[in-house]
Amino acid sequence: MSKTMSKHDLGSSVVYQIYIKSFCDSDGDGIGDLPGIVSKLDYLKYLGVDYIWITPFFPSPQRDNGYDVSDYCAIDPAYGTMDDFDALVAEARRRGMGIMLDMVLCHTSSEHEWFQRALAGEERYRRYYILRDGRGSSGPGDPGEPPTNWQCAFGGSAWEWEPRLGKWYLHMHDVSQPDLDWTNPEVREACADVVRFWRDRGVRGFRFDVVNLISKPEVIEDVPGSGSACRALVADGPHVHEYLQELVERAGIDGMITVGEMAATNLENCVRYTNPASHELSMTFSFHHLKVDYKDGKKWELADPDIARLRQIFSDWQEGMQAGEGWNALFWNNHDQPRAISRFGGRGGAGYPDTSWEKVGKMLATCTHFMQGTPYIFQGEELGMTNPGYPSIDDYRDVESKNYYRIMIEGGKSPAEALRVVSERSRDDGRTPMQWSAAAHAGFTTGEPWIGVAPNYERVNAEAEAGVEGSMLEFYRRLVCLRKELDVVAEGAVRFVDAGPAAPKVIAYERVLEDAPAGQPKRLLVLCSFDNEPCAVRLSGAAAEGLGDAGVLLGTYPRRLIDPASGMVALHAFEALVLAW
Ligand code: GLC
Repeated sequence: MSKTMSKHDLGSSVVYQIYIKSFCDSDGDGIGDLPGIVSKLDYLKYLGVDYIWITPFFPSPQRDNGYDVSDYCAIDPAYGTMDDFDALVAEARRRGMGIMLDMVLCHTSSEHEWFQRALAGEERYRRYYILRDGRGSSGPGDPGEPPTNWQCAFGGSAWEWEPRLGKWYLHMHDVSQPDLDWTNPEVREACADVVRFWRDRGVRGFRFDVVNLISKPEVIEDVPGSGSACRALVADGPHVHEYLQELVERAGIDGMITVGEMAATNLENCVRYTNPASHELSMTFSFHHLKVDYKDGKKWELADPDIARLRQIFSDWQEGMQAGEGWNALFWNNHDQPRAISRFGGRGGAGYPDTSWEKVGKMLATCTHFMQGTPYIFQGEELGMTNPGYPSIDDYRDVESKNYYRIMIEGGKSPAEALRVVSERSRDDGRTPMQWSAAAHAGFTTGEPWIGVAPNYERVNAEAEAGVEGSMLEFYRRLVCLRKELDVVAEGAVRFVDAGPAAPKVIAYERVLEDAPAGQPKRLLVLCSFDNEPCAVRLSGAAAEGLGDAGVLLGTYPRRLIDPASGMVALHAFEALVLAW
């Protein structure tokens, strides 16, 4: 078996996520594409990232923006050609960066050849999918009721009756995304072939979409409540570790950088997925920290972020993964999430006084970039992009947002209330065109963009920020650079610290590396205030030791007050401060 990546390699790397549809359009059709990415590689090099994860660009009916793949080993003409792809891999490599691809192997599109052949009656391909008889069916041809009460991720039943199959098929996501049956060895082999195909084309790593949902429970039965609990039931299923090990070995990717997207997962399983001895994945995305503003756990009900809970989740996952020798992917944003600045800096992201969006963005970045793990930057995050706050539901494109808008209205919400919720929770919040400049459509396209640009692009854009001292972009560059320069950031132990009763919205942790190279700090103290008012941190015990000797490594305000005698550090609204010894 080849060698897995070392903690130092993982800990000194930074990944950039590109949502291809919205990144850069080279041909004016309003959709980003592969040549567009090539044209921005110098920008990514300037930012300093090591790997570029690109969301799916395979042929797809685009019901779920490419996460409904109809051919895993080809390129959708809207995004370019195989030659464009090869050029991208070569050009990235020339600049010292690697390409990571997004493998959507939990389900196919219903237009994939496998599903089409199942529909045509080929027994071999029927066995690729999860087919069941209906409840209360009187026999062939009578659908009866869905086999269980499971709800799919985008609203509505997770089962669809298909007369051509004479069965219901399972879809954990959209009706056009039938789940593959991973108990079938032929499916597992076919998926490994797909990964190997791209590995052989020079890809350096992979992200695996909802990969902890591949092993369904042995008995498929009702879940308590409304049916949305099926996600937790299916997550981390009975054979998931075994299937992953097999996939990694067969595809020959053990030495590569890999990340699994883990729905409704837990710490114990993520330790197993990522402990090098398991030979499964380099790291996992978990999402508990991005649910702290869900009211009673419900995504489509608004609440202010619960910072005490956020702190608890971070400390459990940071210290827990460390104890189990696992590894976290560190992130606030991706193509499924509203923009973190809008979430944590005051709901809606609008109405900020002057420059506080910038303070919030820098504080959030500091909070994750100094943690143990591998940071991910989602396109535009490094510029401070926010939710767009579109005025009408017609401006949204996402299948989930549109479904839930309808469900909320059916449930009695007014159109204005439902729009408000969508504007804060939509996946489209993260999918607006990348803001390259103050030109028309933020310089993303010369045509009509497939989705509208956020209104703040004239102020928040790459051209306005590059090389400008104090800008968000330059701040991110510094964070990326520090991770490479300082071993304590890449490899240090992590320990969460109590910030005291007068700082309830501060997240504080230490990084320690006793044998740091000479001239480098051995200890960092990271203080991040999620408070929109000033507050006073009070450190005690080991955390306060040597405060008088600490230097400031990084800060987001010029003036600060530290009293080593009492262990007091005063923080401004949304301030981030990193002290080093
Ligand atoms: C993942 C993707 C998301 C997609 C879903 C189904 O969560 O990130 O965009 O809709 O899987 O493939």
